[in-house]
Amino acid sequence: MAYETIIVEIEDHVCTIKLNRPDALNALNSQLLKELASALTDADRNDKVRAIVLTGSQKAFAAGADIKEMSEKSFVEMYLTDFFGSEHEAVQKVRKPIIAAVAGYALGGGCELAMMCDFIIAGDNAKFGQPEINLGVIAGIGGTQRLTRFVGKSKSMDMHLTGRFMDAEEAERSGLVSRVVPAKSLMEEAMNAAGKIAEKSTLSTMAAKEAVNRAYETTLAEGILFEKRLFHSLFSTEDQKEGMAAFQEKRTAQFRDK
Ligand code: CAA
Repeated sequence: MAYETIIVEIEDHVCTIKLNRPDALNALNSQLLKELASALTDADRNDKVRAIVLTGSQKAFAAGADIKEMSEKSFVEMYLTDFFGSEHEAVQKVRKPIIAAVAGYALGGGCELAMMCDFIIAGDNAKFGQPEINLGVIAGIGGTQRLTRFVGKSKSMDMHLTGRFMDAEEAERSGLVSRVVPAKSLMEEAMNAAGKIAEKSTLSTMAAKEAVNRAYETTLAEGILFEKRLFHSLFSTEDQKEGMAAFQEKRTAQFRDK
């Protein structure tokens, strides 16, 4: 499928998806979100892809949902079309690891999209925010729930109620991002991290993602049981035999996703 609002590249088992609406600071309109959902679904199904990097430009990861597209919509339209509901679900359904490489603005839906990824690497110029309150609305694709889980109630309330932005340093200190790197080397760092993931067995990276995400959905006892079942099940794979043999033979494991 030819895309107009994103650029997709696959190299060395890593699929890079770059949001590409520079004139609108990568604002998320319906077309972009549909294209993104389609590209992510394709990458998830593609045997050659073991990790995904989602990024924007140096100025903006994404400055939020497209305000110009939304501004005249009625409740009935928003509700009947389940505005952004299916695209949100498509991102959540991706089973392979996704890294958000964020430089510049990640606001509103942009911050929410970054938080839907498995972890965020931020350029030192990144700015995160949920400024929907300034528009007379609130976050609509998970911001009140996910940001609260990342940074706690007090900071999340502060962000959602005042609409203030959080810089990269504060985002790292608060647990929103896994690491901060110079904005200029953001892609290099993100690709290195994705490359490390791509060296592993997809069976175990997908299991790790599933198990960590379970921590948000269930009790500790159930989560630990879920993890143990996945851990045991990985002993049925060739990649487990290969990984443990390679360790003992002091060589690099060659995983085949089997
Ligand atoms: N929607 C549509 N267009 C947007 C946009 C958005 N969210 N953000 C920026 N743009 C457009 C601007 O309208 C402008 O276009 P024109 O040149 O045609 O006027 C262009 O991008 C450049 O933007 P600015 O001139 O405003 O750039 P700036 O550097 O002065 O400011 C900014 C940057 C602080 C990010 C500012 O653009 C801004 O505040 N953007 C809106 C942020 C926002 O409110 N996001 C939340 C959206 S609602 C949402 O996301 C709901 C949800 O949860 C699903």
